[in-house]
Amino acid sequence: MTSNTAQQDAAVTDKSILANSAYADGRHLAARQSIYRWQQPQYDLPGIVVEELVGTSGIVLDVGCGNGKFVGRLHKDRPDLQVVGMDISAGILADVPKPVLVADAQALPFVDNSADAVLALHMLYHVSDIEATIKELARVLRPDGVLIASTNSDTDKRELDQLWAKAAGDVLGIPKGPARVSLSSRFSLEKAPEYLGATFSEVRIQQLPGTIVVTDPTPVVAHLASYEAWAEQCGVPFEETVDRATEIVTSAINTDGSFQIACLGGVLVCRVQDCRHS
Ligand SMILES: C[S@@+](CC[C@H](N)C(=O)[O-])C[C@H]1O[C@@H](n2cnc3c(N)ncnc32)[C@H](O)[C@@H]1O
Repeated sequence: MTSNTAQQDAAVTDKSILANSAYADGRHLAARQSIYRWQQPQYDLPGIVVEELVGTSGIVLDVGCGNGKFVGRLHKDRPDLQVVGMDISAGILADVPKPVLVADAQALPFVDNSADAVLALHMLYHVSDIEATIKELARVLRPDGVLIASTNSDTDKRELDQLWAKAAGDVLGIPKGPARVSLSSRFSLEKAPEYLGATFSEVRIQQLPGTIVVTDPTPVVAHLASYEAWAEQCGVPFEETVDRATEIVTSAINTDGSFQIACLGGVLVCRVQDCRHS
C-alpha cells in the first residue's frame, strides 16, 4: 500500500465521489471483491462475522454495507437478527436485502444504545473524521454490544502498487510514475487498533494473510480499473495506464506462468466501551 498525497486523501473521503461515482453502483466494489477468488487460503469473511455474532441477538447495523455481501449472509444464516444495511450511496443499496437506509456513518439516524452490534467493514478509511465516526458508532451501540471493523494492511497488494507505478512511469516516459491512490491507508490494519482502542477497551485482531495467484490478467486489470472514480488524482492518464498495466501483467504471466499478489487483511472485534469517551 502506498501513502496518499493530501489531495488523494481528500478524494478518498469525498462524499460526492463516493456516492456518485466510486460506489454509485456495485460494479467497482465487485471487481475488488472478486479478485479474492484466486487467493489461497480462502477466507469466508461473512462467515467470520456470523461466528463473531454467535452471542448477539437483536439489532445489527451494517454501516457502509456496500453491495450487501454481509447483509445477505446475515439474513440467510441469522434470520432471528434485525439487520439494517446503511450506506452513503443510494445506488449501491438497490439490490441489498431490506431494510436499508441511505445514511452517513458520521451522523447515524439511531438513538443512543439502540444497536446490539455494529459492522464497519472496509469503510472507516472513507470517512473524513475517523475518531469522531468511531465515537458515533459507539454512541448507537449498547455498552455491552460488539463493533466489528475490517480493513487492509499497509503491506496489502504491494505488487499492484508496483505494477501501477511501472505502468504510469512507462506512460509518462519516466522510470517510476506516481503512486496509485490508496483506499485503506488512512485506517490501515496497523493504524486501526489505536483508533479503535481510544473508545473500546478490548480490540481483538484476526489477521487474514494470503496470496493471490492469477494466470489470466483479467481480475488484476479489473481491480486496477475499479479506481476509475479517482482517475483525476492519479497524475497520469488513467485508461492509458490501465492499458499499459495490462501489457505488463500479460507479459509477466507469459514469462513466469502466473502473477502473484501478497494480501493482508484483518478483522477487528471491539467490545466494552470506555466511559471516558462515551
Ligand atoms: C469498500 S466498500 C465496503 C462495503 C462493505 N462493507 C464490504 O465490506 O463489502 C465501502 C462502502 O462504504 C460506503 N461509505 C463510504 N463512506 C461512508 C459514510 N460516510 N457513511 C456510510 N457509508 C459510507 C461506500 O459507499 C461503500 O459502499
